[in-house]
Amino acid sequence: MAYLSADSKVWAMAEKGVDSDISKAHTLPSRFYHHRETHDRVLKAFSGSWLFAAHQHEMVENNILPLPQMTDLGEAMVLTKSGADEGIRCLSNVCTHRGMLVALNPCNAKVLQCPYHGRTFSLDGGFRNMPEFAGVADFPSPSDDLKEYDVVGWKGLLFTRFRNSSPESASDFTPIRDELEHRLGWLEIDKLRYDSSRDRDYMIAANWALYVDNYLEGFHIPHVHPDLNESLDYDSYRTETFPGGVVQVGIARPGEACFNLPESSPDHGQRIGAYYYWLFPNTMLNFYPWGLSVNIVIPSDVEVTRILYRGYVGSLENLGEGAGGDLDKVEVE
Ligand code: FES
Ligand SMILES: [Fe+2]
Repeated sequence: MAYLSADSKVWAMAEKGVDSDISKAHTLPSRFYHHRETHDRVLKAFSGSWLFAAHQHEMVENNILPLPQMTDLGEAMVLTKSGADEGIRCLSNVCTHRGMLVALNPCNAKVLQCPYHGRTFSLDGGFRNMPEFAGVADFPSPSDDLKEYDVVGWKGLLFTRFRNSSPESASDFTPIRDELEHRLGWLEIDKLRYDSSRDRDYMIAANWALYVDNYLEGFHIPHVHPDLNESLDYDSYRTETFPGGVVQVGIARPGEACFNLPESSPDHGQRIGAYYYWLFPNTMLNFYPWGLSVNIVIPSDVEVTRILYRGYVGSLENLGEGAGGDLDKVEVE
């Protein structure tokens, strides 16, 4: 709740139900799941939050990567990689001429070229050229450049946000990075490889917050996910919070796939089958012994939500085993 502006009775109502003592807490009022006005207000919290964009491996073959999930969220963006340091930038994907999407597909090119009338931009977003515009007054101007957004990275995972940081908010990602580094700093997440065959795209008839609620509680596992329940030790399942997110730790039953945790891991000596991270508001990072599955939650309407899944594989050896084995089945359940 601290991430939402406390400017209305709606938040006061919600906060009444939130209690660190779970025996006193309540489900959020139903308007959070059904009412357009409340929904729209909650969505404003997306604009200043870090949103998952991609894994750097998606830019090994392509130095231009449009982010359609951000377009769905209301801000068309494209990642570019350029320069001797191969720095990654996030730019507006909206042409400054007449608003066409500049990059339609991942590709490899020296410039961005709008497919509508041919305007070109450097990979840092600067305006380069426009056919048929000789003699136009005050042209080009800084407003002809593509807007740039903040990008942060952790071990190859790239995040961006719609509203650029003020100096005071520049450290927003730090608590998230610290938590991930503390627990998973030993894991070679930067070496994971994007596997597009694991992409999934589901539309569900429910508010996005309901999907997040469901993700954040393990009570339904024995009832809804029988196979997952066989892989995890339900009684040892635990949930921890940190500023900006929640991690659920799934302990593998004997014989099920688990991480080989080094001594530097705070969980060393335990049989961890999965780490399920939720980062406010819409990113879920599911770490399994084989790699990482990401859920991106996109509120399409008050009661319509799109869920995109992305898979990044490290160890082929553990694919198909344990808690992260048959993800298609768990997702459909
Ligand atoms: S809209 Fe891009 S060049 Fe015209
Ligand atoms: Fe579930």
